[in-house]
Amino acid sequence: MSNLLSGSGARSIARPKTVIFANSKGGVGKSTLALLMGLGLATRHQDASVKLIDLDPQATSSDSLRRFCDMRFSVVNDTRLNLADGGPDNENIVKTIDAERNSQYNKRFVVLDSAAGSDPSRSPFLFQCDIMLIPTSVSDADIFATKKYLAALHNLFSTHEIRHTTPPPALVVLPNLVDSREEFNELRHSLAKEQVYLGKPLYYSPAFRRAFREQRNDENIRTIFHQAQPYTLWLTSLLTQSHRLEKRPKKLFQL
Ligand SMILES: Nc1ncnc2c1ncn2[C@@H]1O[C@H](COP(=O)(O)OP(=O)(O)OP(=O)(O)O)[C@@H](O)[C@H]1O
Ligand SMILES: [Mg+2]
Repeated sequence: MSNLLSGSGARSIARPKTVIFANSKGGVGKSTLALLMGLGLATRHQDASVKLIDLDPQATSSDSLRRFCDMRFSVVNDTRLNLADGGPDNENIVKTIDAERNSQYNKRFVVLDSAAGSDPSRSPFLFQCDIMLIPTSVSDADIFATKKYLAALHNLFSTHEIRHTTPPPALVVLPNLVDSREEFNELRHSLAKEQVYLGKPLYYSPAFRRAFREQRNDENIRTIFHQAQPYTLWLTSLLTQSHRLEKRPKKLFQL
């Protein structure tokens, strides 16, 4: 498995720009933001392919996005991406990301949405990502879980053998479900010592509650997209410009 993961030879062929939305905590907005990212990339980059890989057996984002699939936009939700005990099947995930190299489009993006409760020490496939986006709310419980998750990620990236051949992804915490600027400042304060980037806040908006609603037309998605347009623009640029992020800032660095 480590050979496949390190895959240094294969890396020289244009690897898709790859982003994962992850946090051990549930309900922080991983799927919502993966949806914004996937659709945002597809609309903004008409010359690119976008593949959304849903690692969550609950299939929140893939179910909702399947209706947008076409030649450029694809959604994968495959039981083979997870092992019987619910952990990630690293080898199959890497293969699924890598399959996008065969896309006929010059630009390729892969967006992964992950399940809550995932364990970084079992997830060396994370080395395949250019950037990890880690949503959190401002609640104490979520901040606590996020800090613990960041520590586990740093541990993976500083100890796994793959680090000798593959750089780790840049880590960006994304404040979500934020009520006010004061709340955002509180979050920034409590993460001050973390060696990660801090993204722009996404404020609480009732429209997001309807992101995954079944609807015959796409009115709900259109409303969200319209409301979150500046944020989505920023979010998609974060991926396209991810090479500009120095991998690990010395302390919290606000973008
Ligand atoms: N900025 C926001 N404003 C209001 N509601 C939001 C916002 N972001 C997410 N939500 C809502 O919060 C709930 C959880 O979001 P989401 O499903 O994206 O989280 P998740 O991290 O993917 O959860 P899980 O761990 O269960 O997969 C959803 O009902 C979603 O619509
Ligand atoms: Mg989810």
